[in-house]
Amino acid sequence: MKISILGLGYVGFPLACAVAMESSHEIVGYDPNKEKINTIQSGQSPIDDARAELDIQKIKFEVSDNPDIIDNSDIYIVCVPTPVGADYLPDLNPVKSAVELICKYLRKDQIIIIESTINPGVCDELVIPLIEEKSGLKCREDFDVAHCPERINPGDEEWNVYNIPRNVGSSSARATKICANFYREFISGEINEMPDIKSTEATKIVENTFRDINIAFVNELAKSFDVLGINIDVVIRAASNKPFAFMPHFPSCGVGGHCIPVDPYYLIERAKMSGFDHKFLKLAREINNSMPAYAVDLLAEKLNEVAKPIKGTQIGLLGLSYKADIGDLRESPALKVKNLLLERGAKLKSYDPYFPDFSDVSNLEELLTRCEAIFIATNHKIFTEITEEQLIKNNVKVVVDGKNCLSEEIRNSKKIIYKGIGI
Ligand SMILES: NC(=O)c1ccc[n+]([C@@H]2O[C@H](COP(=O)([O-])OP(=O)(O)OC[C@H]3O[C@@H](n4cnc5c(N)ncnc54)[C@H](O)[C@@H]3O)[C@@H](O)[C@H]2O)c1
Repeated sequence: MKISILGLGYVGFPLACAVAMESSHEIVGYDPNKEKINTIQSGQSPIDDARAELDIQKIKFEVSDNPDIIDNSDIYIVCVPTPVGADYLPDLNPVKSAVELICKYLRKDQIIIIESTINPGVCDELVIPLIEEKSGLKCREDFDVAHCPERINPGDEEWNVYNIPRNVGSSSARATKICANFYREFISGEINEMPDIKSTEATKIVENTFRDINIAFVNELAKSFDVLGINIDVVIRAASNKPFAFMPHFPSCGVGGHCIPVDPYYLIERAKMSGFDHKFLKLAREINNSMPAYAVDLLAEKLNEVAKPIKGTQIGLLGLSYKADIGDLRESPALKVKNLLLERGAKLKSYDPYFPDFSDVSNLEELLTRCEAIFIATNHKIFTEITEEQLIKNNVKVVVDGKNCLSEEIRNSKKIIYKGIGI
């Protein structure tokens, strides 16, 4: 088969590599981003993904910013962004434009798989009618649409595109089988054949809202325990020795990335259109969105203890990425913290080893020498290794640990004012 992948980012690029590595199909990739295409053509990964960086050194496949490359494909796989726009409203325009593009090349007996995260109903209500209108072909008779949501977790050393189980559902049982067998060629995890597209779409949103709600729960507990004087870290770790029916989640200065803070809105909005109000999901989003401001308020409180305001104080922001040890700024709470500190007049210096161009200093030591207070916004390994001695030597007086990642030694220091989230 000829397989085309539309969108060569965190989802599409590792997928293209896996198909090229493990199957005998012809694989091509299309992305309108010329820079990404040039990077891939020069044999490099356009994304920060250790496995894909290794893969691309071993294989080669054609990629282009010219859509003609996808002509004559048996399967088109859509891996384009599904962001939220103003007021957190879902933006399905990238999906629409990728599908419209496919329609220019679509012929009978071809299959379109959507891997992008979408709310229940997008394939039946938007994708299929759009294809039928633009191509004049009939779904099930002439073409099929399938959904196989990606679950990749950037930076995860254990779980990747080769071993994460998948769910696949489509417009016909025949297409579900073809797609499932295709994924089985390069994925060792279970490929579960779903009864329909709508429930397949719902699984991914359920997985991510589950996480958002659990994180919101511990973030709310952290706020409560800050008032009650209880250390949430101690409590969650103790609760975790229950061998059943408890799953630990930890609080922080916010939730980031392209999935967790975005996907719930897709379900919230679609359910609203059908008259259902997702109160619980909305509350979870509200709590998680409030965390950057909450953490900045903690810093203001702790600076008070040394008679300093945020305004005019030399503050170091450690980390810009939304999670540890990867360079990804999407929906990063660190950027929200940065803006809040700047709005409040801090003399701010930021540092992230993954983003030297966005950093104000060239290394951690330089940042520490120049700041009276620090705010840890990302738990990069290099930050978790900071010692009490290092902070004292550099005269850092106040530490807000937005990821609860610093050592017990710093948490219990008599010489430094330390505050974590719920600690
Ligand atoms: N990043 C993750 O960890 C992750 C995990 C699981 C699922 N997802 C979902 O997968 C989808 C893609 O996410 P991503 O992280 O790969 O995004 P990304 O931004 O890294 O990559 C998307 C790519 O699509 C390209 N693109 C935009 N419009 C296009 C079009 N019309 N035709 C072809 N290409 C187009 C962009 O240039 C970009 O290179 C989203 O729906 C996301 O929610 C992401």
